[in-house]
Parts: sequence; C-alpha cells; structure tokens
Amino acid sequence: YGTMKIEENGHLTIGGVNTSDLAKEYGTPLYVYDTALIRERARGFQNVFKKENVPYQVAYASKAFSCMAIMQLAEEEGLSLDVVSGGELYTALASGFPPERIHFHGNNKSEEEIRFALRSKIGCFVVDNEDELTLLEDICQETQQETAILLRVTPGIEAHTHDYILTGQEDSKFGLDVQNGQAARALKKALNSEVLEVLGIHCHIGSQIFETAGFTMAIQTLFRFIGEWDEKIGYFPAVLNLGGGFGIRYTEEDTPLSPETYVKAMIDEVKEQMANFSGRQMPEIWIEPGRSLVGDAGTTLYTIGTQKDIPGVRRYIAVDGGMSDNIRPALYQAKYDAILANRANEEASQLMSVAGKCCESGDMLIWDILLPSPQKGDLLAVFCTGAYGYSMASNYNRMTKPAVVFVENGEAQLVVRRESYEDLSLHDVPLRKHSMTR
Ligand code: LLP
Repeated sequence: YGTMKIEENGHLTIGGVNTSDLAKEYGTPLYVYDTALIRERARGFQNVFKKENVPYQVAYASKAFSCMAIMQLAEEEGLSLDVVSGGELYTALASGFPPERIHFHGNNKSEEEIRFALRSKIGCFVVDNEDELTLLEDICQETQQETAILLRVTPGIEAHTHDYILTGQEDSKFGLDVQNGQAARALKKALNSEVLEVLGIHCHIGSQIFETAGFTMAIQTLFRFIGEWDEKIGYFPAVLNLGGGFGIRYTEEDTPLSPETYVKAMIDEVKEQMANFSGRQMPEIWIEPGRSLVGDAGTTLYTIGTQKDIPGVRRYIAVDGGMSDNIRPALYQAKYDAILANRANEEASQLMSVAGKCCESGDMLIWDILLPSPQKGDLLAVFCTGAYGYSMASNYNRMTKPAVVFVENGEAQLVVRRESYEDLSLHDVPLRKHSMTR
C-alpha cells in the first residue's frame, strides 16, 4: 500500500519512516497514517470530476477518522467535510476548517447542535426526517437565519455488504422514504419555507461496496422520483449527493474497484438520466467517502506479548491493544492482514491467531494469519486500520487510547497524543464520602 517499503534488514517503513523507530518514539499501539496516500486518494476522486467536467464536491466523511490534523489535511486537499455530531463539527471548526464547506448529517440532531451549526454558518444541513425539518425551520424562523439543506432520501436499494452497515434500504432509521411519499411531503414543505433553501437530494446506500451497480440503481430510482417532482411541483435539484461507501481491500478476499471507477459510473449514469430532462441543468454531483480516503492509509503497530499454544488447535499471540482500538473484527467479523514489522523479510509460515488484551473472548484482531514465529517484543503491523479504528476506539477495561502519527517524506508528526491514566479519570467525580452506602 502507498509508500510502504521493506528495508533489507526486514524493517517496514511507511512514508520513509522506520516503523520500529516510530514504535520506540511514540510507543504502541500506534496508529500510523501515510498521508501521501490520503492525498493521492483525495486527488484521485477530484480528478475524475475535473476530467469529466462535472461540478462537484468531495466531502470527507469525518466519522471514519476524526481529529484536527485530518481535517486540516482535508482542507488542504480542497475537500469538503461531512460531520454527524456537534463533536465532529466542533473539531472541524477548531481545526480552522471553512464552515461553508461543512455538511451536517445525522438522524437526530439536537436543538443545541442545530443552533451551534447555524451560528457557525455551515454550508448545509442534510435533513434526515420530517421532525428535523420542522425543528430546523422553527429555529431558523426564531433566529431569523436562512440555511441551505439537502434532503436525505432512502431509495430502497440494498447494496451488497454487511447487514450492520446497510443504510440505503427501506427499513432504515435514516432518510426520508421516497417510495411512500414521505420525501415528496418534506420537499413541498421545504420549498414553501422562507428560511430554507433546498439545494438538492442526498442518498447513501451503504458502506464497503464493491460494485457500481448499487450506485447506478440508486441513481435510476432517484431520477424516477426527480421526474415526478419535476412534473408535479416543478422542482429539479441543483445538487445530487450520492454518499460514500466505496470499498477498500482489507485482505486479498476483498475485490474493490478503484475509487475512480465508482465515480465515473455515477457520472455516466447521471448523464444518461439527464437525457430525459432537456432544458434542465445537470446537477452538481457530491460524494462523501470516508473509508476509501483514509482506510488503507492507516496501519496499527502493536507489540507482541504473551503467547498460548493449544497443540493441534490454535496458537494465540497477544498484542498490547485489541478491541479497544479496533472493534471491527468483534463487531463485523472484519478481516485484516498483518506482518511482523521488524522481521518482514522472514517467511510467514506459521499459522496463528492475534488476540487483544481486553477481558473478553471475542477480543480477537485476526483469527487466522501466517507469520514468522513471533517473539515477545516483535512488532506487529496490522494494515488498513485507518477508517473506523481510532474513531470507534473505546476505553473498555480503561484502556488508554493510542497515539496517532502522520508520516510523509521521511518525517513523522504526532497528531493525537496517547491517553494517560490521568486522562482516564479526568471526568470522574469521586463520591463525597466513602461511607455513603453504609
Ligand atoms: N455518508 C453517510 C451518510 C454515511 O452514513 C457514511 C457512513 C458515509 C458517508 C461514509 O461511508 P464510507 O465511505 O466510509 O463507507 N463503522 C462501520 C461503517 C459505518 C458507516 C456509516 N456511514 C465500519 O467500521 O465499517
């Protein structure tokens, strides 16, 4: 992946930086991001739109990995930003991200979050349901502010992926149903509003998608309804936000297309649909990739500790992190690939399982992997952990969250400090008296 190399002495380098040195300097577990690869992905997406001469926004879905540094990088690369909570919004603004390039998602935005976003003059709200529309309109009326919105609709497409990650199908907590008239009702209401400007339509059909068919089907469905709305209420969207969900290769089992292929298929389908709308201008196409921008740019370094061999059954090797820094194997049965980062030139001939150190049998990072026989203190590099790793990390077992470093051109920069034990009890409020229950 990206700038990774194996040196003659068997050491893995990322961005020209030796991973053993990184482990020494910053400790483990450690998330390492190859920022050149993130830039390459960001430019890759944008270049397709430029080449096709289609107005666009590529919004980084910051839920995949959120901290100030990645938002600065996104800003530098000309990306917009998708946030889904007051916390993500706060982080973006704190990083200096231009508010007009921020899109606010979420199926239950609180009044406080809406007011915060309006005050910050964000680019647009992605309105998820009718209750939110009413609340947003009321707050705008009360505070005499106007805002742009996209209406998030559920086109009823089931993209082929893991059940928990499905979001585009009909029975979903997200979005306005297009099939049963919910979306049309919301659209009429929003169009009648003096304070809301309906920029367009949004849909997101799922995550870790390997085919273009889900996207093109969603576009076809959307255009059926856009046709109806055009005819009945004379509304035609200026923006079509087609969400994220582009798959990446975690292991050799995964067969994603290139990011460019997904985008090109989307553009082609929209262009084809536009043939039925002479006189209407082709909408801007917005996308919001998360995983495909940062996923394979991230590698987690762990130190190997104890081992347990059950002859004829399984050999467990335990690392100094686990489900607290990567919940995906336990939550989605997600698979990962790994190597010994300090012995990458040795033959990977032994079958084993990588366990975390949390107090739970399900805390496994990799069930079956071939590695050189590891020794205590060896460094394990687990690949493709850049998306939904740090952002879904927890303090289960009061594990401290790892540090994050960015590497590029032979230089490393710490962008999130490792949590300390003191950090863990920062918000704890001790009982006034120890005898309270006596
Ligand atoms: N836009 C919307 C509205 C979304 O709901 C999501 C992801 C994205 C964009 C970005 O999707 P991506 O390009 O990253 O696939 N925690 C799960 C993934 C949950 C995705 C939720 N929504 C995982 O670890 O696989």
